Amino acid sequence: MKAWVDGALVDADRARVSVFDHGLTVGDGVFETLKVVDGVPFALTRHLARLRGSATRLGLPEPEDAVVREAVAAVLAHHDPAETARLRITVTGGPAPLGSDRGSAGPTLVVAIGPLTPWPASSALAAVPWPRNERSAVVGAKTTSYAENVVALAEAHRRGASEALVLDTRGHLSEGTGSNVFLVVGGSLLTPALSTGCLAGVTRALVLEWIGAEEAELPAAILGETEEVFLTSSTRDVHPVHAVDDLTFPAPGPVTARAMATFAARAAADADP
Ligand SMILES: Cc1ncc(COP(=O)(O)O)c(C=O)c1O
Repeated sequence: MKAWVDGALVDADRARVSVFDHGLTVGDGVFETLKVVDGVPFALTRHLARLRGSATRLGLPEPEDAVVREAVAAVLAHHDPAETARLRITVTGGPAPLGSDRGSAGPTLVVAIGPLTPWPASSALAAVPWPRNERSAVVGAKTTSYAENVVALAEAHRRGASEALVLDTRGHLSEGTGSNVFLVVGGSLLTPALSTGCLAGVTRALVLEWIGAEEAELPAAILGETEEVFLTSSTRDVHPVHAVDDLTFPAPGPVTARAMATFAARAAADADP
């Protein structure tokens, strides 16, 4: 297995970045996770666009598409296409002094690939007490500062769930630690608006385009009148939820089952929608 580190393809177990890298020392970086099926990364163009947006939000130089595409192609050239994989593109602030100021060495680009563990047929969610800050300086950016998500996910696991449900600071549903959330209420498909601080998920956007849903600020109490829940992410696609804390749901319910089928058919027809 190979990884790309700053312009060179290296054996994955020998891939290294500096101990002074700002991504390591202060979490100053942005990333993308893509699913690779039959050797082809899904929705690469959309992921590259979000990577540029995340970098701009952090004040990092925009990664050049051609450079990232070359790195992705180089890593995939050494990957067995029979293995469904998780591809990770990371861009950090690069080597820097040991503080929050950035250095002048320029960003670090890493592309790595690893196995994609299949998800169970459905998931349970646990609502966690720590909010997503919809007024954060880095809202909307997919940053490497994921410690809050690490803590929230560990709490979800501790409570027997496989994903956390995170609310914004005002008590609206926002997202999971690595997923967006959709609800069926009165037969209508709803998803938290971006104003709740959730990531503009690539899969979320495709569900909005291919299936249609209303983006809204949803109070947590709406779960009490919800008929179905599903998650979306690049590794989960459309993924049924059978429980949120003590509430249970059919998984998949009829709307979720239709969304799963439509998503699978559209994704199979076009790997870079
Ligand atoms: C916090 C968060 N929300 C939502 C998502 C889903 O985004 P996507 O569909 O682009 O994978 C992710 C992806 O990992 C995420 O980290």
